[in-house]
Amino acid sequence: MAKILITYYTRSGNTEKMANFIAEGVVRGGAEAEVRPVGEVNPAELLAYQGYIVGSPVYYGLMAAPIKELFDESVTLHGRLAGKVGAAFASSANIGGGNETTCLSILQMMLVHGMLAVGSSQGDHYGPCSIGSPDSRVEQQCKAHGERVAKAALALEACE
Ligand SMILES: Cc1cc2nc3c(=O)[nH]c(=O)nc-3n(C[C@H](O)[C@H](O)[C@H](O)COP(=O)(O)O)c2cc1C
Repeated sequence: MAKILITYYTRSGNTEKMANFIAEGVVRGGAEAEVRPVGEVNPAELLAYQGYIVGSPVYYGLMAAPIKELFDESVTLHGRLAGKVGAAFASSANIGGGNETTCLSILQMMLVHGMLAVGSSQGDHYGPCSIGSPDSRVEQQCKAHGERVAKAALALEACE
């Protein structure tokens, strides 16, 4: 069964709540979900997953440093993560506070790895975006995104 890692950084819990909603969607989509704070993820373990959904609070319009650090350390696996599924999510304090730029900066790193990025034709195109604590709209976006990523990973697994 496809295994999806949902990893995130948080200080005040908003991004973590989104991660848990996304995990529900992954399970609904038929894949296994593992939710782990980014500080507990060793880059060497990344090979064990078929997909990654990475979330960050917006810090000055971009991802928090520990997320960038995980990707910087993942250079040891460069080339071996190609073809995995990738997706992003973000939480800011303000509307227009940088959620989309943060999602795009995470997706940009995934594309450099050769991952296949998942977006959405409806709602939050680049990944679920929350203003503060996730409300019911964000909850729905998170669950739908998790489900999409799971289905993409399962479809790719079936092609292997
Ligand atoms: C260092 C720092 C920088 C931040 N920069 C922004 C920002 O550029 N735009 C914004 O809307 N919120 C910004 N925020 C607010 C957080 O993105 C927001 O509170 C978020 O929901 C926190 O997520 P968390 O509860 O998962 O830690 C910043 C917060 C911190 C601590």
